[in-house]
Amino acid sequence: MTLTKWYVVLAMSAGAVTSAIAQSDFPASPSAKQEAPRLVEVMGMAQIEHLKLWYAGKAKNWDLAAYELRQLTNSLAEAAIFYPAVPVSNVTTMKEPLLAVADAIATGDERKFAASMRVLTDGCNVCHTSMGRGFIAITVPAGGQPPANQIFSPPAASRKK
Ligand code: HEC
Repeated sequence: MTLTKWYVVLAMSAGAVTSAIAQSDFPASPSAKQEAPRLVEVMGMAQIEHLKLWYAGKAKNWDLAAYELRQLTNSLAEAAIFYPAVPVSNVTTMKEPLLAVADAIATGDERKFAASMRVLTDGCNVCHTSMGRGFIAITVPAGGQPPANQIFSPPAASRKK
C-alpha cells in the first residue's frame, strides 16, 4: 500500500514525471509514444479514474482504489508533460490531495478517503476555472445521472430565474 504513496510523490515531482510514466507495466511501442493523446482524451480518462476511485473507496476495495489512484496520478502528470499551455503549478498543487487520498487508502480510513477526495475534486475545478473551463464541474458522485461525477446543470449564477 505504501507503494501508492511513493508513486504519487514520484509521479508528481517535477522532472520525475516522465520516468514515472515510462515505468508503466504496459509501455507504448517507441513509435506510438511520439503521438501524444489529445488533452480531452487524457481528461476523459481522468474522469473515469476519478469515478472508479470513488466507488472503489466507498466499497472498501482498497487494492482497486490504489490502482485507480495510480492511473489518475499518471493522467494528471501527462496533462502537465504533454501540454505546455497547462500550467505545471496547477498540476503540482494536486500532489498534496493525491497524497492524502493515498494515506486514506493505505490506512483503510473511509472518512478520510471521502474528505480527501473532496479536496482533490476541488483541485480539478480550480484548474478548469483558471483555464476558461469552469463549465466542466467535477464532483464526488452523489447519485446523479452517469457519469455521476460531473454536474451538468449550469452554474447557479448563470441560471435563468
Ligand atoms: C492542471 C489543470 C487541470 C486539472 C488539475 C484537471 N483538469 Fe480536467 N481539464 C483541463 C483542461 C484545460 C480541460 C479542457 C481541455 C480542452 O478543452 O481541450 C479539461 C477538461 C476536462 C474534462 C472534459 C473532457 C470531456 O471530453 O468532456 C473532464 C471530464 C475533466 N477535465 C476532468 C477532470 C478531473 C476529474 C480532474 C481531477 C481529477 C481534472 N479534470 C483535473 C485541465 C485540468
